[in-house]
Amino acid sequence: MRVIGIESSCDETAVAVFDTERGLLSHRLHSQIALHQAYGGVVPELASRDHIKRLLPLVREALTAAHSSRESVDGVAYTAGPGLIGALLVGAGFARSLAYAWAKPAIGIHHLEGHLLAPLLEPEAPPFPFLALLVSGGHTQLVDVAGLGEYRILGQTLDDAAGEAFDKTAKMLGLPYPGGAALAKLAECGRPGRFNFPRPMLDRPGLDFSFSGLKTAALVALRGRVLDEETRADVARGFQEAVVDTLAEKTRRALVGGGYRRLVVAGGVGANMRLRRRLVDIARDAGAAVYFPRAEFCTDNGAMIALAGALRLAAGERASLAVDARASWELGVAGSAR
Ligand code: KG4
Ligand code: ZN
Repeated sequence: MRVIGIESSCDETAVAVFDTERGLLSHRLHSQIALHQAYGGVVPELASRDHIKRLLPLVREALTAAHSSRESVDGVAYTAGPGLIGALLVGAGFARSLAYAWAKPAIGIHHLEGHLLAPLLEPEAPPFPFLALLVSGGHTQLVDVAGLGEYRILGQTLDDAAGEAFDKTAKMLGLPYPGGAALAKLAECGRPGRFNFPRPMLDRPGLDFSFSGLKTAALVALRGRVLDEETRADVARGFQEAVVDTLAEKTRRALVGGGYRRLVVAGGVGANMRLRRRLVDIARDAGAAVYFPRAEFCTDNGAMIALAGALRLAAGERASLAVDARASWELGVAGSAR
């Protein structure tokens, strides 16, 4: 089963070809960072228009790189949500049309399902079941993954996502959008201990998170200070430590409480090296194996959508011809167009 996957939920246009026998055959991505940078964040209408321009050339490139003709493709997978509705509609309309013209099945994929299956793209793929920590720009969740499509949310953020907190704090520190990776880099030169930010929700039972207070604490710490390079780095360090501590401790509780043997880390913040190191330690102490996608498959990409689509289509799942796109869509809830 060979599937072409299309991702367009936010500010990356990405296309990939995945084959259930031969693995990932190609992946192509166009980032809109330069397009949105002047505005300090994603401008939805600009994002939608750019996806329209990029999709067809990327599909051609991905097919060529995969040495695949359109006849050899068995289906089309696309991100149906959650995300920016205009951006999603572009991808969904495009993917459905392509599938219709090629007389192949198409399937809408939950963006977060793509993220949490991304480690399956690696040579050492985790078998089910596992615990997944999903940390992206829009979501922060601990998910029990029993099998394909069997997802149970154990805990999630009550306000900002971890990536969103990274991005907003980065902006306060004068770093360009998207600030997560830049903040992490700045934090490397920061001194530990100068700024001690709160570890939200650690004093409470349960597996939920909250990051909006932490962002406010960073704002208060910065107010009235001379923002020399050292201070900015120290704030970045203190902020990153607080986020990493919080994510790591809740993940430890979920791992131990649920007796999991495997931990999967996915989503853009999963590229954070400090977080990765802490999770490696925590998993080792809990006697669990830990799996990360490679950095480029932590952030948005087409490979994870092609993979999720291939697994679902190979399992016999089929969808109606409706263009399926939803801005909000809880993980584990069946899609309306299925
Ligand atoms: O998964 P993703 O590409 O998009 C969403 O589905 O949201 O995640 C993007 C998020 C952004 O908030 C970005 O700042 C953050 O991941 N991010 C990082 C790092 N690299 C990307 N956050 C912390 N450290 C990093 N190294
Ligand atoms: Zn994402």
